[in-house]
Amino acid sequence: MQRIIAPSMLSADFGQLDRDTRMVDCSAAEWVHIDVMDGVFVPNISFGFPVLRAIRKVTAKTLDVHLMIVEPERYVERFVAAGADIVTFHLEACADPAGCIASIRSAGARAGISIKPATPVAALRDVLPLVDLVLVMSVEPGFGGQAFMPEALDKVRELRTMAGELRPELLIEVDGGISARNAGALFDAGADALVAGSSVFGAEDPETEIRRMLEA
Ligand code: DX5
Ligand code: ZN
Repeated sequence: MQRIIAPSMLSADFGQLDRDTRMVDCSAAEWVHIDVMDGVFVPNISFGFPVLRAIRKVTAKTLDVHLMIVEPERYVERFVAAGADIVTFHLEACADPAGCIASIRSAGARAGISIKPATPVAALRDVLPLVDLVLVMSVEPGFGGQAFMPEALDKVRELRTMAGELRPELLIEVDGGISARNAGALFDAGADALVAGSSVFGAEDPETEIRRMLEA
């Protein structure tokens, strides 16, 4: 099992996007997490293609794009063209998850699916054999800086067991309220990748914070 940290650019200083992306590029974090919000699927609006392209120019690290948008199938190819290496959409936002996964793959990226806190792991059973990654939300999607919901730990364990049966190579990622305080428990529960926004960008020394999470 691997340990990956994915700093969330939602908590970066957008006036210093270049500087903050370079910091992640030089750090021990392997992925860069990009939160796209449409103001419909979630009650907040973040950023889209131009910002993704700007980040892509500055780093060769894996760009992990988290779409919190309705009808994601309309946009996935454009996110891959703008530089996404992984495109994750919400199960709750998509009428044809298998079709959306196929579009992401044929555009050349890895495909992920995410579930909100109220959606049970069992809802993923049919799509699990088709995806590269599942993103378990440990807060309600929409905003950085919220408190971690500990129920996510049981969801990760349940998903790891289900993946053992249906998709052994599955990567499990967790997003929301993560810091060095809970990172160790999440990795131990079976998570491969942890998203961290405010804990990284709010730290006095973000690179040290990333290392603390990896060693937690
Ligand atoms: C929330 C986003 C998260 C967010 C995490 O909807 O999906 O990626 O940036 O921020 P923190 O780590 O501050 O909870
Ligand atoms: Zn996210």
